[in-house]
Amino acid sequence: MAISSGVRPASPRPPAKKPQVSRRSFLRTAWLAGLGAAVAGFGAGSVYFLWPNLTEGFGTKIQAGTPDSINADIEAGDGQAYNPDGRFYLVPFDEADDTDGLYAGVAGGGFMALYQRCVHLGCRVPWCATAQWWECPCHGSKYNQVGEWKEGPASRGLDRFAIEVSGGQIVVDTSKVITGPPRGTNTTGQELDGPHCVGGGGE
Ligand code: FES
Repeated sequence: MAISSGVRPASPRPPAKKPQVSRRSFLRTAWLAGLGAAVAGFGAGSVYFLWPNLTEGFGTKIQAGTPDSINADIEAGDGQAYNPDGRFYLVPFDEADDTDGLYAGVAGGGFMALYQRCVHLGCRVPWCATAQWWECPCHGSKYNQVGEWKEGPASRGLDRFAIEVSGGQIVVDTSKVITGPPRGTNTTGQELDGPHCVGGGGE
């Protein structure tokens, strides 16, 4: 016959309880995570929005080069020098031709800076070296070398940017678009030099 020792066997330990996350704590964590994501998104959006003003690109004052280097580029470009970052073309302009002061404060240093965008519906207007005019491939608007309207549906000459000469550099201010001159403006008297690159658009 077995004799009881009086010691009861140890009962098995209950499993450890998993830490419980209260509903309130969960919601607070989720809210903070959402807020963090929103702040990060806003920061990224702000940097993107301000980026043009943090770099030397469109929307800023751009150092386009010295008069000598620009003249060399204009010669190499058969009559114009393109600045893709600034979205403008530089063309020669003798301010003595501006007898009415139409381009006072716009032209400078012997140059004019033309916005590349057609004033009709916004296509980029390429240079036509044979005609020595700007000829829009979209609907045939044409402008003379200094961007004054000659033909086509555009309502005025090409828009442009102000130029200043600073420290021997030609600086183009692309932060403000200056509305192009009205139809009929013809400061240089420059007529067609040769065959068109684009047909149509006659008006
Ligand atoms: S966009 Fe240039 S003529 Fe229409």
